[in-house]
Amino acid sequence: MSPFLITRTLPEDATGAALRADVLDGLTRTPKTLPPKWFYDALGSELFEEITALPEYYPTRAEREILAGRAPEIAAATGARTLVELGSGSSEKTGYLLDALPGLRTYVPVDVSGSALAQAGGALAAGRPSLHVHALIADFTGGLTLPATPGPRLVAFLGGTIGNLLPAERAAFLASVRSLLSPGDALLLGTDLVKDESVLVAAYDDAAGVTAAFNKNVLAVVNRELGADFDPDGFDHVARWDPGREWIEMRLRARSALTVKIPALGLAVEFAAGEEMRTEVSAKFREEGVRAELAAAGLGLTHWWTDAGGRFALSLSTVR
Ligand code: SAH
Ligand code: TRP
Repeated sequence: MSPFLITRTLPEDATGAALRADVLDGLTRTPKTLPPKWFYDALGSELFEEITALPEYYPTRAEREILAGRAPEIAAATGARTLVELGSGSSEKTGYLLDALPGLRTYVPVDVSGSALAQAGGALAAGRPSLHVHALIADFTGGLTLPATPGPRLVAFLGGTIGNLLPAERAAFLASVRSLLSPGDALLLGTDLVKDESVLVAAYDDAAGVTAAFNKNVLAVVNRELGADFDPDGFDHVARWDPGREWIEMRLRARSALTVKIPALGLAVEFAAGEEMRTEVSAKFREEGVRAELAAAGLGLTHWWTDAGGRFALSLSTVR
């Protein structure tokens, strides 16, 4: 069994304080919003894993296809000794990288979901006796401090999760990633690509209703953590393509007029019948846009790989 360490950089009560601030801010605006990182409690992380296996949810399979084919090239281009993965979740696809990088010593999965890290880290460490696994429970948008591990470093951000950040948040995030990197380090970024609206909408509104359950899970998190009385059955899951912004927008729509009490905030929130609250965006990208956003953060894209269907892209940027 290899060394497996979990470090929490989020204070135990940071979650509660940040959730209260986010919910207060989001539910007192027009239109109402709830921020996406609160989807991922233990149940949310499990539901997301179910999403990745749905017939309609192509991004995971497309990204796995690219990783399976390109891991040797990624290894050759980076020579990484430390792999840092942001929003690592189950780390299910990461095995392709871990197995392809001959000089890899340390794997640092970073996620807000402690339950996902504990499951993933244990499984990875068990199969790779010489790998140091140093898991970090941390918010990747909040000024990360990485453990001192040998370079070169490869930072991987997979799953198209960058699309869940709004454009201004994306710019700040990429700049903060750049500040973690030294010459010789690299960023491997997974981005879902613009495609036919029907394919996109189905990926976020599956026939079995798993995505709907995932979306509504954020209400259960607010109920549990803040004592709120959201009735998940009082809301419908909505996934819409915004052609101007080129993102899928997930919402929860109140089925009837209702009032939700949130005792921890001393708040009663009114919903009109049919009122929609935004819970998540999932932006879709084009090569020129990805290149430009990376360049704006001081990162030079050197490789662009897509799956055979051209649905998803992995890009590699190296720091000189
Ligand atoms: N990389 C995996 C999981 C993607 S789902 C894959 O490709 O399948 C997004 C992951 O990011 C979840 O595990 C979630 O818990 C995590 N996450 C979301 N917001 C985060 C944040 N602000 N900081 C750290 N992790 C976050
Ligand atoms: N990173 C994933 C994506 O944008 C997250 C996700 C998948 C998601 N399905 C969802 C978020 C449904 C909210 C609702 O593809």
